[in-house]
Amino acid sequence: MSDVADFKPGLEGVVAVETEIAEPDREGGVLRYRGIDIEELVGHYPYENVWGLLVDNDLSSVMPAPEPYVPPDLTGNAPADLQAETARLAGEWKLGKLNEISDQQARIDLGRLSSQMMGIVARSARVADGKTDDVADEVVEQGQTAAEKFLLRWRGEADPKAVKAIDTYWICTAEHGLNASTFTGRVTASTGADCGAALSSAVGALSGPLHGGAPAYVKPMLEEVAAMGDPEKWVRDTLDQGKRIMGFGHRVYRAEDPRSRILKRTARELDSPQIEIAERLEEVALAELERRHPERPLKTNVEYYSALVLDVADIPPPLAPAMFACSRVAGWSAHILEQKRTGRLFRPSARYVGPEPRSLSSVS
Ligand code: COA
Repeated sequence: MSDVADFKPGLEGVVAVETEIAEPDREGGVLRYRGIDIEELVGHYPYENVWGLLVDNDLSSVMPAPEPYVPPDLTGNAPADLQAETARLAGEWKLGKLNEISDQQARIDLGRLSSQMMGIVARSARVADGKTDDVADEVVEQGQTAAEKFLLRWRGEADPKAVKAIDTYWICTAEHGLNASTFTGRVTASTGADCGAALSSAVGALSGPLHGGAPAYVKPMLEEVAAMGDPEKWVRDTLDQGKRIMGFGHRVYRAEDPRSRILKRTARELDSPQIEIAERLEEVALAELERRHPERPLKTNVEYYSALVLDVADIPPPLAPAMFACSRVAGWSAHILEQKRTGRLFRPSARYVGPEPRSLSSVS
C-alpha cells in the first residue's frame, strides 16, 4: 500500500505528470519554455507568440485575436468575473467535452477562450473604475499586441511604458510547471470536462494569496516600510509576529527566481518609483530570512518585482491575481492540451485518520 505510506503534505516532490512544456530549473535559476530561456523571449517576441510557443511549440503561432463578445454581467471583481464568465462561455459557445472533441478542436477552444479571458479582465477592470460604457471594438483592434489591446479595451488608451510592463510581466508568468492552478486545470481536464470548465477552475485556484495574489500585498507592504523608514525593524517585527513577507520563498526554486531577475531589471528600466525601497527591503529581508532559516533558501520570488512592474502600468493591487490569470492562460492551455493527449483521470488516495468505526447510538 505504498500510496498510503508515501503521504506527502501538499504533494511536495510528488511527480504527478510528465510534461514537455516547461519546468523551472530548481538549482540553476533558469526558466525555459519548450527549452527556450525566457530571457531570450522578453523584448523579442510579444506575449501572443509566447502563447503559441507554449501551446503549439511554435513561435510563429499566435493566440488568436478576441472575437466580438460582450460579457453580460460584470461585477468589477476581476477574478470572480473571470472565473464565472469563463465557465459561462462554455455554455454560450456550446463547447464540447474534452473527451469527445479532437485535439485540434480543443486547441481552437483554448485559443478562443484565452483571448476572450483577457477581454473579460479588461472589461471588469473598467467596471471597477466606475465606467459604464464599453470601448469600441475599432479602437481595441488598433492595438498591435495583446498587451496593447488589453489596455485599449480597459482604458481606451495604451501608454507604451504600460504596454511594455504588461507584456514583460505576462511573458515571465505565462507558465511555471505544475503549480496549484495548473494542477487544478489538469485535474478538471482529466475528467473530460470542457475547456471553459478547466480554465475557470484554474482561475479559482490562482485567486488565493499564496499563489497568484501576492503582488496585491507587495505594494502596500512597500508603502508601509517606506512610511516607517526602518526596513530592518519592519522585517524583524513582521517575522517576530509569525507573519510572512510577501514576495519571498518558493516551493520549487532553491536558487534565485529568474523571473524576479528579469522583472527587477524591467522595473528599473521603466523607472518604477518604488525600486529603491524595494531593493533595500529585499536586501534586509534576504539577510534576515537566511539568518532565521539557514536550512531553507527563501529568495525573492516572481511576485515581488511583479508588483513594481504592474504598478508602472497603474494596475491597482487588487487586479494582480487577474493579471496573473491573463498571462497564465498560455500555460494552462498548453497543459490542458497535454493532459488531453497523454493524461489519465487523476484519482489520488487519502489516508483515513478519522474515528474508529462506532455505532450511531454512541453519538446520538
Ligand atoms: N516570509 C517569512 N517566512 C517564510 C516565508 C516568507 N515569505 N516563506 C516561507 N517562510 C517560512 C515559513 O514560515 C516556514 O517556517 P517554519 O518552518 O519555521 O514554520 C518555512 O519558511 C517553510 O515554509 P513553507 O510554507 O513550508 O514553505 P513553502 O515552500 O511551502 O512555501 C510559499 C512557499 C510561496 C507559499 C511561501 O514561501 C510563502 O507563503 N511566501 C509568501 C507568499 C508569496 O510570496 N507567494 C507567492 C509565491 S510565487
